[in-house]
Amino acid sequence: MAKKKNKKVAPKRLTPDEYPIHIENRLRERKQMRCPIPQRHLLRTQEQLEGIRKSAEINTGVLDLVAKEIKIGMSTLDIDKLVSEYTFDHGAIPAPLNYEGFPKSCCTSINEVVCHGIPSSKIILKEGDIVNVDISTILNGYFSDASRMFMMGDVSEEKRKLVQVTKECLEIGIEVAQPWARIGDIGAAIQKHAEANGYGVVRELTGHGVGIKFHESPEVLHYGRANTGMLIVPGMTFTIEPMINMGTADITEDPLDGWTIRTRDLKPSAQWEHMLLITEDGNEILTK
Ligand code: MF3
Ligand code: CO
Repeated sequence: MAKKKNKKVAPKRLTPDEYPIHIENRLRERKQMRCPIPQRHLLRTQEQLEGIRKSAEINTGVLDLVAKEIKIGMSTLDIDKLVSEYTFDHGAIPAPLNYEGFPKSCCTSINEVVCHGIPSSKIILKEGDIVNVDISTILNGYFSDASRMFMMGDVSEEKRKLVQVTKECLEIGIEVAQPWARIGDIGAAIQKHAEANGYGVVRELTGHGVGIKFHESPEVLHYGRANTGMLIVPGMTFTIEPMINMGTADITEDPLDGWTIRTRDLKPSAQWEHMLLITEDGNEILTK
């Protein structure tokens, strides 16, 4: 007899156009308990989800390309060229380009740069660097967003640990991001893990709703108290993107370019980012 095939059950993906009464009741119940619930437009319809999913696929393709090509001696502008070429070739637009005046197609943030580093021909990747490449894509009006860390050659043990613990912070955040939990649960779990390792959690920059706009509700803090903040509901799409500093949590903004964020003590910082869809029975990483 043939071995019984282990049939994969697709995860349930409920959207507001098809919410059954038990979900509606649950929402109403929590609202009455004074828990902030997301506005309806933040719960994606099936059609929106399809568009967001396709955008995220391209976004992941960009990151995979960067992972394949990134190497010592390259400039961060070389990375930017790869990003914009691949994105336009796939009929999409890099979301950072001209976003509030941002001049390039992605963010490249090395060592003490926390985020929003501007790609430049003058910034050359060198041995021992840790680099975050943050990619965001618009396809047919749908937005996606994710970032990864890359380590250049021989990287010090303490930087490796920072990169690893920051990745764990993202993973822990994803585990906590369950339907009917609250947004504050995510930050509380991340902060606990980062601080247990002696690291600082950046306060000023947050994860965010994403999909129909680049940055929408909810604001996803990477620190804070459990059982606070917005209710997490099936159909929401948002990022988790902890920025974790080896030293102080404090940051500065470059007064010359108005973008580059650095640690105040100039010690290294790391960041990993994924975009999630909340489902009825858990979540799905859209940027895998
Ligand atoms: N990709 C960043 C985020 O994770 C936003 C970058 S905005 C830019 O939210 F203008 F700096 F690109
Ligand atoms: Co983001």
